[in-house]
Amino acid sequence: MTDKNANLQLPNTSVELPIYSPTLGADVLDVRKLGSTGYYTFDPGFMSTAACRSNITYIDGDQGILLHRGYRIEDLAEKAEFSETVHLILNGELPNSTQNKEIQTLLKKHAEVPAQIFKVLEAFPRDAHPMSMLMALVATLDAYYGKDVNWDDEANRKKMALQMIAKIPTLAAACHRYMEGKPFISPRSDLSYAENFLTMMFGEKPTAVVARAMDRIFTLHADHEQNASTSTVRLCGSTGTSPFAAMASGVGALWGAAHGGANEACLEMLREIGSIDRIPHYIARAKDKNDTFRLMGFGHRVYKNKDPRATVMKMSCDEVLKETENTEAPLFKLAKELERIALQDPYFIERKLFPNVDFYSGITQTALGIPSKMFTVIFALARTTGWAAQWCEMMADPEFKIGRPRQLYTGEIERAFVELNGR
Ligand code: SDX
Repeated sequence: MTDKNANLQLPNTSVELPIYSPTLGADVLDVRKLGSTGYYTFDPGFMSTAACRSNITYIDGDQGILLHRGYRIEDLAEKAEFSETVHLILNGELPNSTQNKEIQTLLKKHAEVPAQIFKVLEAFPRDAHPMSMLMALVATLDAYYGKDVNWDDEANRKKMALQMIAKIPTLAAACHRYMEGKPFISPRSDLSYAENFLTMMFGEKPTAVVARAMDRIFTLHADHEQNASTSTVRLCGSTGTSPFAAMASGVGALWGAAHGGANEACLEMLREIGSIDRIPHYIARAKDKNDTFRLMGFGHRVYKNKDPRATVMKMSCDEVLKETENTEAPLFKLAKELERIALQDPYFIERKLFPNVDFYSGITQTALGIPSKMFTVIFALARTTGWAAQWCEMMADPEFKIGRPRQLYTGEIERAFVELNGR
């Protein structure tokens, strides 16, 4: 509870609103009793609304800091394996070496899915977007792992989280194999999480450098507070639906170009720009209010300084290009020049627009041999850890209620019905 209150003076009444202080970040006003005064808050896009309590991730947008359970993303991406971040986000602590081996073993144990699940893909044209395929596959998991399960039982929720995180690479890789018209490849117990995914994608074990880069991409995308897709998972899950259905709704939300789809859109944008001399034309378009064009991979609702993930991704991109055929070096050079020019432009400076996690991830993934349609699928693969952890946190929250926002109604007032022959 709290001993701090805000006194809100309204035209015909006043109300005391409790103020809660977080361990980090902004104080919040508890407006739950505001409705009893006949007033609602109005906050389209939830620009100033905290939808829940959470202990998992904290972002300081002004400082460009991202913490998972208190640990900086830079340390996790550069010094830990993804399995350590999975354990941290799910359980609240970094694992010791025994616990890390245990979670790696569990993720391998649960990686298989019944081959019958892949029949779902036969409903899709091979050139369908793989995010639509992934949504269908994730929802199908309920038929095999969600029937008659008591989700009020924490052990069942933890098992679901591990199953989701273990199986999502198998489902993601199957989407790629289906699009290519190639046979599905089963996960292997002798490979790491990233090695397994890339082997199931391409049919051969990746080099240590490529596997490490993929592992780091998973860590960079694992969780991110109450972003649109995580909020979707929470709202969907708050109805008491299958957690697999809630995860599928997260895939749907992440697909959007304003969210997880930006990495694919950013690569398409860089290829369309094509050469450094065309950058000024596209910068002008991005600034033109009459042009819907935006710099994909730029800007963020929370980060108003830098996206620390973009910094790590840019470094990783450089490393990968040095270790691979370097085919994307010209595009990387173009992206760095675009970043340099934009960050000197008052339009971007005034609006605090910086490269976000999506700006360099497309180039990095292309250098790793990942087709652009799979970029957001890989984002969804990684964010499954966050979605599962946030769903578990919501289900264990004593304040948990079904989400049901109100509205500012601007439609017709009540009017008499007119029979058809009178209209
Ligand atoms: C992700 O929420 C998360 O944490 C998301 C994410 C995660 O890990 O879950 O971090 C992943 O989604 C990253 C963002 C990926 N999306 C993109 O890169 C798409 C391009 N960026 C934007 O569309 C935009 O910046 C958003 C959607 C990311 C943020 O939009 P906001 O916070 O709603 O900001 P806004 O649209 O109100 O823009 C504020 C101003 C506007 O100009 P004015 O009307 O004030 O003159 O900035 C301008 C915008 O026109 N602007 C841009 C721009 N982004 C914002 N102008 C040109 N190019 C851009 N990219």
